[in-house]
Amino acid sequence: MSHSYRDDQTLNDSANPSFADVLDARLSRRRLLKGAAAVAAIGSLPLAGCSTGLRREQAFGFAGISTSTADAVRVPQGYTANVLYAWGDPVGHPSGSPAFRQDAGNTADEQALQAGMHHDGIHYFPLPYGSTSSNSGLLVMNHEYTDDGLLHSDGFANWSAEKVRKAQNANGCSVIEVRQKGGKWEVVRPSPFARRITASTPMRIAGPAAGSALMKTAADATGTNVLGTFNNCAHGYTLWGTYLTCEENWDTYFINSGTLTTDQRRNGVTAKGRGYRWNEFDERFDAGKHPNEPNRHGWVVEFDPYNPQSQPVKRTALGRFSHEGAWPAKASDGRLVIYMGDDRVFEYIYKFVSRDRVNSGDRNANGSILDNGTLYVARFRDDGTGGWLPLVHGQGPLTVANGFADQADVLVRTRAAADAVGATKMDRPEWIAVHPQTNEVYCTLTNNSQRGGKDRAAPDRANPRLNNVFGQIIRWREAGNDPAALNFDWDLFAIAGDPQHPDAARQGNIKGDAYGSPDGLWFDDSGLLWIQTDVSTSTLNKGPYERLGNNMMLAADVRSGVTKRFLTGPSGCEVTGVVMTPDARTMFVNIQHPGETSSERNDPKNPKVVSSWPDGAAGGRPRSATIVIRKDDGGPIGA
Ligand code: FEO
Ligand code: CA
Ligand code: CA
Repeated sequence: MSHSYRDDQTLNDSANPSFADVLDARLSRRRLLKGAAAVAAIGSLPLAGCSTGLRREQAFGFAGISTSTADAVRVPQGYTANVLYAWGDPVGHPSGSPAFRQDAGNTADEQALQAGMHHDGIHYFPLPYGSTSSNSGLLVMNHEYTDDGLLHSDGFANWSAEKVRKAQNANGCSVIEVRQKGGKWEVVRPSPFARRITASTPMRIAGPAAGSALMKTAADATGTNVLGTFNNCAHGYTLWGTYLTCEENWDTYFINSGTLTTDQRRNGVTAKGRGYRWNEFDERFDAGKHPNEPNRHGWVVEFDPYNPQSQPVKRTALGRFSHEGAWPAKASDGRLVIYMGDDRVFEYIYKFVSRDRVNSGDRNANGSILDNGTLYVARFRDDGTGGWLPLVHGQGPLTVANGFADQADVLVRTRAAADAVGATKMDRPEWIAVHPQTNEVYCTLTNNSQRGGKDRAAPDRANPRLNNVFGQIIRWREAGNDPAALNFDWDLFAIAGDPQHPDAARQGNIKGDAYGSPDGLWFDDSGLLWIQTDVSTSTLNKGPYERLGNNMMLAADVRSGVTKRFLTGPSGCEVTGVVMTPDARTMFVNIQHPGETSSERNDPKNPKVVSSWPDGAAGGRPRSATIVIRKDDGGPIGA
């Protein structure tokens, strides 16, 4: 989601960071304002104690491609990309396979059996469970949000309960079974695994906030049952083969016809909402009438794709905010660590460390791993060190005297708790990736045009630029190389920008092919870092972005720092979500919102004004889609 009007809204007016940190930041700002030389120096700050552990210089097996403004997916010579699963394609559920109608005439019930809109995070689970099959598996993905100008034949006109249900059914997740023969992939239809999870799917609430008074509503006196998940941005997975879907800009679906609470304001709920209009036919989306309903969203949701009957579970121990994604690492002692970003300007980076060790012999023994543990938030100091601050009731400022009633309250109001402990305000934390050999952790900070603005946090070394329109990638190494450690060293892997930009502060320091607004981030097993961009459609190919073309995907060798452009997307799209089969010979990538207009809502009378990808002249409207990328010689991707 590019969020041209969503994530630029500053919600964090907390007085944090601490006074000492402010002094540091002012000193640092003075240094930073000296210009490009200072920016370059920060970017090259060595990661203390860093030895990448890679055995050899990473070699690219492709020539980087040029930027593109074409309404097409482009990949390097020797590679081919094909569409596998586009919005509206049947999921393959045994109860029916309604075909997509190019006039968007499918009903709400049909949409519940079809691919949702706006594909995002994606993961491949081999079939059967426990195998490493690269020929047969489950693809699980998020459908982040809807463009109602494309979703319905006449857009928002004649708004109705049916249209609200269709939009709700176009959010959530897909589970599809896929298989290949001779390098040609197909969706298996019907499949006993095929499933759609939507904004109406019954779910359980688990962890410390389950059953809390804060979670009880008129429809759920127990505070343990909730309908649905929506605005599912990036994703994660566990070490026992379950999928994690993350609720990002959930607040934009609510209105409040009464009085906004402090917590609703801190989380972005507004009186009028952001135009999804669900409240008009589904009253629970009016936070004035149902003040606790917003508390039941903004969580990480776990479900088992191998068991289509399993009920998704909201895991409250992982905190409540605009969850971008949830990526796992294994602590030295076998506990699970989950890294998470909160994607709003000036929000934070978190990690969860489980209390219990993962049972690698019995996947069913891990049902409560994500319910017991400690949630931490990151502080990045200007000296290149950092620490993880626990969000535990009774510790530090998180006391009854300071207004935190109990641990459920700390978790429901995660942002307020993180403000109180003095976390570092970041430039929109998006995806996080853990290096498969070294355990170094990389995180995209996509942009923050408000950095250094009036009454806003000043630049610091981790977020070094005023009016940061291009973003950066930060990385850290945990103490003892243990993901559960409480201290780390950090540096900036790359400061994004356009080397041709006349303003030196906007040139960045990328070695190789340029990009801006890094968002998706994923390591393949060889240690190649894949970077995907989400330049807002309101700025794409304009202003500072006039030379960078459409959104793209690149690969970076983290040892040399060299980056090469691998894919450029069609007009108006965002490139988000990437995974490979275990043999690295097939890559799945999601192309989100091709054809998006700068208002982020299309005119239903002219839906192809920006793009007609992927169906071209024969199609009625652009469609988000999963694409399959193969090397023409069948070899490993990228190598
Ligand atoms: Fe949905 Fe943070 O991108
Ligand atoms: Ca984004
Ligand atoms: Ca994203």
